[in-house]
Amino acid sequence: MRWPKVILAAISLFGSVFGQSDTVGYTDSETGIKFQSFTDADTQVSWRVALPEKTEGDYDALIQIEGPANLGWIGWAWAGTMAYNPLTIVWANGKTVVHSSRIAYGFYTPSVYNETTYQVLKGTGVTGDTLKFTALCKGCTTWKDFDGNTQTLDLTQPARLAYALSHEVVESPSNSSSNFNIHDNVGHWNADLVASKSADFSSWVSKNTIPASNESFHFRNRRGA
Ligand code: HEM
Ligand SMILES: *[C@@H]1O[C@H](CO)[C@@H](O)[C@H](O)[C@H]1NC(C)=O
Ligand SMILES: *[C@@H]1O[C@H](CO)[C@@H](O)[C@H](O)[C@H]1NC(C)=O
Ligand SMILES: *[C@@H]1O[C@H](CO)[C@@H](O)[C@H](O)[C@H]1NC(C)=O
Repeated sequence: MRWPKVILAAISLFGSVFGQSDTVGYTDSETGIKFQSFTDADTQVSWRVALPEKTEGDYDALIQIEGPANLGWIGWAWAGTMAYNPLTIVWANGKTVVHSSRIAYGFYTPSVYNETTYQVLKGTGVTGDTLKFTALCKGCTTWKDFDGNTQTLDLTQPARLAYALSHEVVESPSNSSSNFNIHDNVGHWNADLVASKSADFSSWVSKNTIPASNESFHFRNRRGA
């Protein structure tokens, strides 16, 4: 059955007015982390988030991005817009996953952004045709808007987040500061961040922390896999 465009528009308007969530609970078997997960039906890329119980101040977030490794890059925009918010970008470089912290000040190539740091966790690598990136992000939950005012993730209703991705490989895949071209796909999803909160947050982080002494082993192991 084909729905008239006007009805579809009304449905999507209702969706945003009442803040319906587009995420579902998802437990990653490799890390045991329970995320709220959104999957783009066209590309089969998933963007996942888990938060601690205490969400005051500049709290940390667990994130996971999983999708086809042959995509050029996959991005996440924390305020649901391209500009003036932390952008998390990942891409495959052989068997490893490169991540890049960016910010855009307009509709042009985002700059490297030094206000977020990512602790890469277990559950990161390229297996077969699939890329998976799992990390603890410090700085992803608060940012400065266009006017310089501090903004934080909205926990009172499903938060409107955004994604972007490209099929075109970045200029220099081994370089996390690499240039890349505009997205082929852009979209929004509403994340149920309250449902993503868990008392297990810190144990998930410690359980999935890659020991510094074992890091090269871990990545060598992954590369060889
Ligand atoms: C070279 C890199 C990029 C260029 C040249 C670029 C350019 C643009 C342009 C021209 C638009 C407006 C499209 C329109 O409204 O018709 C746009 C929109 C958008 N872009 Fe980008 N973009 C780039 C990278 C990114 C990245 C890395 C992200 C997120 C991780 C992103 C997220 C968005 C979003 C969410 C929109 C929708 C409008 C909004 O909500 O702000 N872009 N981009
Ligand atoms: C972070 O980036 C800003 C803006 O580009 C710059 O002014 C600042 O010096 C940088 N800070 C560090 C510690 O690199
Ligand atoms: C990484 O890419 C950036 C942006 O093109 C460039 O300025 C920088 O020199 C590159 N670094 C290396 C090590 O190639
Ligand atoms: C090192 O990493 C490998 C691969 O993840 C794991 O099997 C092994 O138990 C780790 N060893 C230590 C001492 O953490």
